[in-house]
Amino acid sequence: MENKEELYRVLADFVFKNTGIFYGERDYYRLDSRIDKMIRESDVASEEELLKSLKQSTDKEFLAKVIDVCTNNETFFFRDQNPFNALRDHILPELLEKKKLNQLNIWSCACSSGQEPLSIMMTIKEKYPDFSSISMEATDISQTILEKAKSGIYNSLEAQRGISIQLLIKYFDQVENNCWKVKSDLIDKIQYKPFNLFSEFYPSGKYDVLFCRNVLIYQNMENKNKILQKLFQALKPGGYLIMGAGESLIGSDIKLEQKTLSGTMVFYKQDLNSFQAA
Ligand SMILES: C[S@@+](CC[C@H](N)C(=O)[O-])C[C@H]1O[C@@H](n2cnc3c(N)ncnc32)[C@H](O)[C@@H]1O
Repeated sequence: MENKEELYRVLADFVFKNTGIFYGERDYYRLDSRIDKMIRESDVASEEELLKSLKQSTDKEFLAKVIDVCTNNETFFFRDQNPFNALRDHILPELLEKKKLNQLNIWSCACSSGQEPLSIMMTIKEKYPDFSSISMEATDISQTILEKAKSGIYNSLEAQRGISIQLLIKYFDQVENNCWKVKSDLIDKIQYKPFNLFSEFYPSGKYDVLFCRNVLIYQNMENKNKILQKLFQALKPGGYLIMGAGESLIGSDIKLEQKTLSGTMVFYKQDLNSFQAA
């Protein structure tokens, strides 16, 4: 293609407008493999055609495909481990034993292929086997990755990445093609649905625990702040926001208290009612 710069610019603009994911000029080289993938996997036959479709197409399937291809879905079970230890050893005991909540509302807001919400569910089940009043919402912008999450099927590499053999055997069944399928009593508790953190309307004061990991790193500072404001509103007072390793609230003015639990930083929303009552 003669003028590839234009394709990079139009694609980067499209992705930014629809997802908030920022590809600056220095990142254009990272679009090459994505452009190749779109040409391989959709109806566009060449880079010229792709450029034309990006400028003109209103076909929802094509637009969803672009978003699918331009997102990074890297994930694995119990990623970084410490956040799940913090959940098990501090956050759940605080919410369920100290505050005696009889219902937990949890949101994994960039859940990719489901390993994160499944790790949360296994953590709860292992610690409180009899506690079942859990609303576990798991959302992502990418429709293809959500379909995979809903299927609950993982190949042997994915299944063995991050999870102990004991948990694998307890919560998964081995199925054909050397794959593992999550048992229905675990996966049926998870409500998978599409949600664009960048543009959608957030529920207010709903969640006790909110996992938002390894997604805001792809946003510029302005959009990261806007999303953090909305996540703050979505948290209940007394709730926790859990971000990715190395992610922080730096540059944001939201009022969450930083705590280190089980060697990981988590962010706590003050519960002014309980503060005044104390
Ligand atoms: C790198 S994965 C992280 C998955 C999981 N949270 C983890 O830490 O293992 C990032 C996910 O964020 C999703 N994503 C990117 N932009 C998004 C947006 N604007 N709204 C919702 N999800 C988004 C991607 O589709 C991808 O599945």
